[in-house]
Amino acid sequence: MRAVVLVGGFGTRLRPLTLTTPKPMLPVGHRPIVENLVRMLAAAGVSEVVLGLGFKPEPFIAAFPDGECAGVRLHYAVEPEPLDTAGAIKFAAEHAGIDDTFVVVNGDVLTDLDVSTLIAFHRATSAEATIHLTPVEDPSAYGVVALAADGRVERFVEKPAPGTAPSNLINAGTYVLEPSVLARIPAGRKVSIERETFPSIVADGRLFAMSTDDYWIDTGRPEPYLRANLDMIDGVRRTLRADAVEEGARVNASARVAHSLVSRGAVVGADAVVEDSVLLGTAIVEDGASVRGSVVMGRVGRTASITDTVVGADGRVDDGAVLSHAFVPDPAAAK
Ligand code: GDD
Ligand code: MG
Repeated sequence: MRAVVLVGGFGTRLRPLTLTTPKPMLPVGHRPIVENLVRMLAAAGVSEVVLGLGFKPEPFIAAFPDGECAGVRLHYAVEPEPLDTAGAIKFAAEHAGIDDTFVVVNGDVLTDLDVSTLIAFHRATSAEATIHLTPVEDPSAYGVVALAADGRVERFVEKPAPGTAPSNLINAGTYVLEPSVLARIPAGRKVSIERETFPSIVADGRLFAMSTDDYWIDTGRPEPYLRANLDMIDGVRRTLRADAVEEGARVNASARVAHSLVSRGAVVGADAVVEDSVLLGTAIVEDGASVRGSVVMGRVGRTASITDTVVGADGRVDDGAVLSHAFVPDPAAAK
């Protein structure tokens, strides 16, 4: 079985982190999100993954230069211009010559779904496409479905206006598709699978969906990105668990690190405090600084104090500064 992982979006909602690193290359549990996804796919018997690349392809190729990740062969399909989700799936699938049932995953969702159960459900119906669903409280930021008792999708509506969603079951971003879906996607222009392709399959009665209560999170905004990381040390994932402080992180003996992930390469100075936070491998927290509820790729100066703040790779919090709910550098000012 082959799979396409969509990793070409701009990651706008995760700026400034994504000003330097594409979203699927950001770590969750010290591993790039895309590597977490490839491992999930490998567990379901996927032997080859096509990365649907667009924005910033180089970091992916640099991270997996031998075309392999977690024992799975990687193809790189680099779009000449962003083709949106369906356009990207078609481009990637044709690039790799996919001509059989295949799996698609959005490159920013993390789940404990056993993908082989979705494949089995797909095979048990007459589906042309099958979507994994998850229940959420506010479905308005997602693709929402109305589902018949047999699992047939009666309606698919992407990002409905608040209060108009037909249910609280949302598209969780993992699909099993027949190759005939590719023929529904016009070539050479942007096509959204959510806004065009799924509704066209619904019209033919051949879109099915399976809801599960497996762990699920879309890491595309700072708060869930932070939470996805903390979930890896809180014992929330079915089988996955990460070390809080990765080997190779340099944490001063007088610093206090509590309920946080600190990746290899990060530096935490004397008397610094890090709580409920994620320090990526390039982070430097200087002496006496405190970091709470924050994600740091850059530098937090001496005795500075940051809360619920995101510091990008080029971000530098001045010595002694006190910040709350801030983005450094400010993505609105960055280009
Ligand atoms: N290659 C490529 N080219 N990838 C793209 C492009 C493109 O033009 N546009 C988006 N992507 C990738 C993103 O990198 C991401 O991995 C995935 O497609 C989905 O895009 P998002 O921007 O994260 O979409 P979303 O989170 O607003 O909504 C999607 O995911 C929800 C679940 O998390 C939709 O599929 C919703 O229906 C769904 O509920
Ligand atoms: Mg998303």
